[in-house]
Amino acid sequence: MENSDKSLILVSNRLPFQLLEQDGKLLLKQSDGGLVTALKSYFNAESNRDVFKHKKWFGAADFPEKRWNKFKKQSSVPDDFTVEPLFIETKVYNKYYNGFCNATLWPLFHYFPSYVVYDQEFFEKYEEVNKIFADELLKVIKPGDTIWVHDYQLFLLPQLIREKMPEASIGFFLHIPFPSYEVFRLLHRPWKEKIIRGLLGADLIGFHTHEYVQHFLKTVRMVLGYDHHYRTIAMQDRLVKIEMFPLGIDYEKFSTASTQPEVTQQMEAITRNFPDKKIIFSVDRLDYTKGVTHRLLGFERLLKTHPEWIEKVVFVMVVVPSRQIISKYNERRMLIEENVGRINGKYSTLSWQPVIYRYNHLGFEELCALYHVADVALITPLRDGMNLVAKEYVACCSEQQGVLILSELAGAANELSEALQVNPLDADEISQAIQQALTMPVEEQQRKLSLMQKRLIDYDVHSWVNDFMLQLNDIKQQQKAEEQK
Ligand code: F6P
Repeated sequence: MENSDKSLILVSNRLPFQLLEQDGKLLLKQSDGGLVTALKSYFNAESNRDVFKHKKWFGAADFPEKRWNKFKKQSSVPDDFTVEPLFIETKVYNKYYNGFCNATLWPLFHYFPSYVVYDQEFFEKYEEVNKIFADELLKVIKPGDTIWVHDYQLFLLPQLIREKMPEASIGFFLHIPFPSYEVFRLLHRPWKEKIIRGLLGADLIGFHTHEYVQHFLKTVRMVLGYDHHYRTIAMQDRLVKIEMFPLGIDYEKFSTASTQPEVTQQMEAITRNFPDKKIIFSVDRLDYTKGVTHRLLGFERLLKTHPEWIEKVVFVMVVVPSRQIISKYNERRMLIEENVGRINGKYSTLSWQPVIYRYNHLGFEELCALYHVADVALITPLRDGMNLVAKEYVACCSEQQGVLILSELAGAANELSEALQVNPLDADEISQAIQQALTMPVEEQQRKLSLMQKRLIDYDVHSWVNDFMLQLNDIKQQQKAEEQK
């Protein structure tokens, strides 16, 4: 690609940086998320270094403006990405984020229609915040820049930019499932149309799986009557390409984690705590979509049907706090804790407790240590766009031992076909899969892991970014060729 003074502008609701105060000094800490790591390494690669002169990341600030201004005065801003926080009035932000994003779109797109809140004001605030993002972006976008918008919080943004900059190069990627039209249609009619028109403002729209691509194409036809030809929709002014990009992980980072002394120390500490026991592990954000209560029922069923595992197995279950203001999230926490209490009350002995439950954040080292020592990872979301935990576990099994039990309703199930796949609602199936995992011969574990690992290496997060950027460039070239016809 040519040398230029073009900018790449990344946009997501949450910035991948935190503004922290340490010893009276403010500092910007990059979050552990794979996306920012991948983008950095993409741009540091020799062949890509000159593609974009500036890289900017726009997102809503979760810190006060005053603190940001103080930080800018104190410290030099990192040179690889310019961070552009947007300061949105709290009342407006809450109705957008806790309201339309996470009480309307999130439950619907994860097939929980009965949880959906229909509130016109929530939608209006969603529109308002999308417009705030558009106004801020339009102040900086120049012809030739590339804008990459991420996720369901910003469905309307591509079209809002397109209206003012018809030539802009805009990519959009959805990190959650795109549901079947039968579910999507349950949105209020004007919202449906605005969302689809909003998305079609992009030149390239990416989803994790082929199934989500098909759902989206059908939805476009049902809502707006547009058909596609090989996943390309011919709009009046442009071609729009719809494609599958299964998000990968930073494989190298996870597969080599056990060489770090901090990780090894934590591994030793965990195994010392559970001598001669098999360890089952799960980690999720607190969310009703993650299937945590059903998973507990599956584990309870195992203890009932296979009492030989009593005192021989522990289930280490970590739940990470999330979206605490929304009532459905708090209710879920109570349900989880009730179930943990019941199982531990029923099966514990004086020297053993079946479920080790933690409700807090995990650092990278501890997470990798747990992946390493776990004999089984039990990842059973009721719906999940992709699920990177499953991929991280497989990457961390560098000694080629470990069994992944994975919900067939996670996007990752397509690529991780050697995992023991289960219906996450079926306690019997979960319990049988745990039994099979705990007794699986080592050679079978090795065979399954190496096949999955090979696939994760072939399409890691770096390939994902590369692929998306290349295809966005391709569609822009195709559009130009069409115009010249
Ligand atoms: O999976 C979708 C997603 O938005 C992720 O990008 C994010 O890590 C997660 O959900 C949590 O989202 P929130 O920003 O609401 O905490």
